[in-house]
Amino acid sequence: MVYVTRKEHFSASHRLYNPDWSDERNEAVFDKCNNPRGHGHNYVMEVTVAGMPDPETGYVIDLKRLRDILNAEIIDKVDHKHLNYDVDFLQGIIPTVENLAVMFWSAIDAKLPSGKLHSLKLFESDNNFCEYFGEPVKIKKFALQNESAYAELV
Ligand code: NI
Repeated sequence: MVYVTRKEHFSASHRLYNPDWSDERNEAVFDKCNNPRGHGHNYVMEVTVAGMPDPETGYVIDLKRLRDILNAEIIDKVDHKHLNYDVDFLQGIIPTVENLAVMFWSAIDAKLPSGKLHSLKLFESDNNFCEYFGEPVKIKKFALQNESAYAELV
């Protein structure tokens, strides 16, 4: 088995906020990340695909194809966006690096032309990152009240 990785970058803003909680509790749990107007990160994503090199091409997966899939399914949708409001497949999700990694995985898992998705590593900063290997994870999806919450801010 060989593991090949494609790295991508995107910049986005987000706010960590649980709409079921009071402002005080959100502030206590999420601290600066609860800033009402959000804050930004320069994210780095590393996607690793495992497989046997094709005898004719030597590729586990054509990394140009992988790049195109990552751009179409993730990067084009999140880059320079506010993750709480602007991205359809993230609606109602608290956009922690953990939840994002799981949602990104499910956005691309079925799209790979060859190999098997092995890991998705997402860096929010140099020091904070997570790695996901596709085990079943339940992510809470909150009722959408973002529009009105956002409307108050703009
Ligand atoms: Ni943050």
